[in-house]
Amino acid sequence: MSRVAYVDGQYLPHRSAAVHIEDRGYQFADGVYEVLAVTGGRLVDEESHLIRLAKSLSELRIAAPMSNSALRIVMREAIRRNRVREGILYLQVTRGAARREHAFPKAAQPVLVVTSRHTRRTDPQIAERGIAVVTIPDIRWQRCDIKSIALLPNVLGKQLARDAGAFEAWQVDREGFVTEGTSTNAWIVAADRTVMTRRADTAILNGVTRLAVLEIIARDGYRFVERAFSVAEAKAASEAFLTSTTVDLLPVVRIDDAPVGTGMPGPLARKLREGYLAHVTEAA
Ligand code: PDD
Repeated sequence: MSRVAYVDGQYLPHRSAAVHIEDRGYQFADGVYEVLAVTGGRLVDEESHLIRLAKSLSELRIAAPMSNSALRIVMREAIRRNRVREGILYLQVTRGAARREHAFPKAAQPVLVVTSRHTRRTDPQIAERGIAVVTIPDIRWQRCDIKSIALLPNVLGKQLARDAGAFEAWQVDREGFVTEGTSTNAWIVAADRTVMTRRADTAILNGVTRLAVLEIIARDGYRFVERAFSVAEAKAASEAFLTSTTVDLLPVVRIDDAPVGTGMPGPLARKLREGYLAHVTEAA
């Protein structure tokens, strides 16, 4: 079966789908995106993603390419036409195509691209074993709350992690506090079993998975505080984990050269992972 992409009003064969060479996404990374999980052919936490998309667009003063109800139809159509049951949906909105000039073009229309494809959920064995992260300086801009397509520091950081044999890189601000991973949010569990993750300020993306896990924490009555933690605190934590749409919740068992806690996934991370997977299944 051949894949189909939605590009600026048309469903096109994926292999030949294209935007204009002067699209501002291509020239300036002038655009935003979302990645949604698909399970049982349904979108997970669609509303939260649409709220964040609207926020990213308005922060960059890019007009919404269509109404949310029209967008919901396009997303469903992309899933249907690609026959995706388990996978992801990617959507991107750029400010549009125009002659290259930094200031906003007067006439450009925003360009929407939507793709969807089958992916396997992260191998449960990875969650069983836990993963390693390395720490790197956070060299990004000061508006990481916007889900911008400008991802070069994230790309370089992820590759650094891969080169070091780690799953993810945790970015660290100038004060020594962890901001987030290159494509995931970062969490620790302190010795007194308090779960910690950074407040959703402008230094991090407010993950949709983060929000769902926060709800589970509140519902199940775990002790919790939203505050930044240092690398030293993370290394001394009894547990650590990370979250995102694409990996759900994965226990972190090593930070740089230090094992976290026992060096095995901790009980709270396991419970929260189960809780989050149940939340995903509810969407189906
Ligand atoms: N990344 N932080 C960053 C920098 C991210 O890029 C992401 C998501 C997250 C987690 O957000 P969410 O829970 O809404 O997926 C945190 C997506 C998956 C990506 O770029 O592929």
